[in-house]
Amino acid sequence: MKATAIAPSNIALVKYWGKRDEKLILPQNSNISVTLQGLSTTTTVDFDPKYQKDVFILGGIEQNGEEAQRVLETLDMIRGLGGIKLNAKVESINNFPTAAGLASSASGAAALALAASSAAGLKLSSRDLSIIARRNSGSGSRSVEGGFVEWEKGGRADGQDSYGKQLYPENHWPEFRILTTIVTSKAKPIKSRAGMAQSVATCPFYGGWLDSIEQDLQAMRGGIQAKDIVKVGETAEHNALKMHAVMLATKPAIVYWLPETISVIQKVMELRSNGMKCWFTIDGGPQVKVMCLQQESEEIKSELEKVPGVQSIGIHAPGPGAKLIDKHLF
Ligand code: DP6
Repeated sequence: MKATAIAPSNIALVKYWGKRDEKLILPQNSNISVTLQGLSTTTTVDFDPKYQKDVFILGGIEQNGEEAQRVLETLDMIRGLGGIKLNAKVESINNFPTAAGLASSASGAAALALAASSAAGLKLSSRDLSIIARRNSGSGSRSVEGGFVEWEKGGRADGQDSYGKQLYPENHWPEFRILTTIVTSKAKPIKSRAGMAQSVATCPFYGGWLDSIEQDLQAMRGGIQAKDIVKVGETAEHNALKMHAVMLATKPAIVYWLPETISVIQKVMELRSNGMKCWFTIDGGPQVKVMCLQQESEEIKSELEKVPGVQSIGIHAPGPGAKLIDKHLF
């Protein structure tokens, strides 16, 4: 009863910020992401009578805090579905820095949902996998499918209509690129989970965020369908800045940006005023992700590399969703 899955990270083009149900992890607003090639979590799950308790190892280190608790909750869900009573060993590795704003929680949640369900002998639909991943980490619901994905907020109280649906597969727009600009590998000051709950509770602009979401979703769906980089870039950048405006006006204030974050933003704006087609988006961390097309990606990368404080830049195309692999981690 052992299985291994690899799941990709994703970057939201229209963000998820705020829950309507903390326990089931149901979002206040629908949101849209692109699944990234080359940034992934690999997870092996083994259910076996030899384990005295559940164990979760991430990057070679046994975890005991909140992360481990979330893994146990997912295992319990799978045990319930599969009628299993066995403990499990779970081992995961990320091929990028954990918790620095490159969505390791998303790829981790999707890899766990697929590996654990398969180790339990279950063959779940991508909808059911997305719902299980969502209950571990909301953005994880978008990492089951490849390409461009919309996590529909749904309306049901039980959350069964709130999951990631593929809008277009990865080969719809193979020229689209995300440049991930890393300025630090330190963990962020506050986790998205706690931050977004504070925003819903205290930010006076939160209603404005929700009121303008439908417009952004519509523009984004149309931009992706038409492969219109200007529309996608402008919409995603505006949406990200609105989310960070909400964060800034939360009590206590949530400030994820570092001086290097601003330097990269300014560089992207400067490149744009020189005619290059590039836009930025930022999540719950200091890293800046830059959207552009393949033909300009190398030049934009070499310009961004000149910004002081930039440590490394990855170039990522839209990628495939989560899948099972034969090579186990242990
Ligand atoms: C800013 O999915 O990490 O990256 O559901 O509480 O686990 P939980 O939060 P998480 O939040 C991601 C927030 C974001 C925006 C986004 O990815 O849409």
